[in-house]
Amino acid sequence: MSTRETPWHLRGNWEPLHEEVSATELRVEGSIPPALDGLYVRTGPNPSTGSSPHWFLGDGMVHGVRLANGRAEWYRNRFVKTPDITDPLEDPAAGLGDLGRGKGNTHVVAHAGKLLALEEAHWPFRLDADLETIGVENFNGALPCSMTAHPKVCPVTGELLAFSYFSFEPPYLRYIRIDAQGVVQQVEGIDLPKMVMMHDFNVTQNHVVFMDLPLVFDLSLLASGIPFRFDADAGARLGLMPRKGTNADVRWFEIDPCYVFHAVNAFEKEDGRVVLDVSRLPEAFSAGSDDYASVGRRWRFTLDPNTGSVLEEPIDERPGDFGRVDERRIGLPARYGYLLSLDGEGNSEEPVYGSKLLKYELNSGRCWEHSLGDNVRGGEPVFAPRSPQAEEGDGFVLAIVHDESADKSSLVILDAENFEAPPLARVHLPQRVPYGAHGSWVPNGVLR
Ligand SMILES: [Fe+2]
Repeated sequence: MSTRETPWHLRGNWEPLHEEVSATELRVEGSIPPALDGLYVRTGPNPSTGSSPHWFLGDGMVHGVRLANGRAEWYRNRFVKTPDITDPLEDPAAGLGDLGRGKGNTHVVAHAGKLLALEEAHWPFRLDADLETIGVENFNGALPCSMTAHPKVCPVTGELLAFSYFSFEPPYLRYIRIDAQGVVQQVEGIDLPKMVMMHDFNVTQNHVVFMDLPLVFDLSLLASGIPFRFDADAGARLGLMPRKGTNADVRWFEIDPCYVFHAVNAFEKEDGRVVLDVSRLPEAFSAGSDDYASVGRRWRFTLDPNTGSVLEEPIDERPGDFGRVDERRIGLPARYGYLLSLDGEGNSEEPVYGSKLLKYELNSGRCWEHSLGDNVRGGEPVFAPRSPQAEEGDGFVLAIVHDESADKSSLVILDAENFEAPPLARVHLPQRVPYGAHGSWVPNGVLR
């Protein structure tokens, strides 16, 4: 399978797995902190047939490690059992527009006692604590549209704030507000001039900020898999809206054309300015939807509602993306953010996850690097607090990494406050784990 003729997303450590494994006897180096009592879970595209037309279109497979009492109790991998797995269509195009035919391949988020596998063009799928699929989740029929894979759980109100962009007709954007009990409270049409790929957004204590960036829908590209192309002439805007606002309340701020796959965090200053910390790419999909030559770097947008202006500031030269914060600081001033370094800038052939994890002091731009090792490539760093009451940043950073030389994967657990030191623990996983997308630390007791 792994030949040069094989598309990059199906070879090397991107090659999909076919078996579902459950393992309990896991080799551990170092000491797993007993404070870690919960589930680390991550998803990614893993086409069940062994092939998919584009990286983004593979079936979701979740990988999880259950940690408790200083032990790694189990590792499991499971396909997200979507209809594409359980009831595949002869002609996949026949499923276009069916919100229940998602992949669950982009992110896993816990909210209101439910574990949700997310993908941005369809409804989520609900998983149980053992990673088995319960079924599609449309919130008792209250969600009339797709939902982003990057919703934000407000640590103050417990709300899940989200949006939907995958619509071929106006409104091209919807805002979704779900309360702490998991009940949809608001689905609000937001006017956009056109359909654009909107992968992530930003929340603060009182606002949300949409990113209308010029990765524009182009039907003529449908056959190539992902029908979006970068068009700087389409302009770029950030839309600031109160969290319970409507379309009429959105204030749009023009910015230089760019793309942002991932926000790191956002917050409001006392003077009312709104700060977005993101990874910004000068452009995306430049030579087509399989071009990853452009990479993200830490960037800060500061929106001033009093003047209508935006300050655009590069923060660091290091390529990095997949930024996360201590989730107890989402939408609030956060001291630290954690990113995955990226290699392969200018190389259009495939995205290259880097050999470092990065910890940023978000205000100063100071950065600590954790080197994963020679020929080891990382994954998204996820923060787990030492306890619910611990100070921000007092805890652990977890990531699944892959040793390209040995072709073996492991879950590394870093001390977030001693970030550059060797991992506190390394859980050797019983099989190779393909490079993937996003995940979460789910403390024990959160799921119902
Ligand atoms: Fe993402």
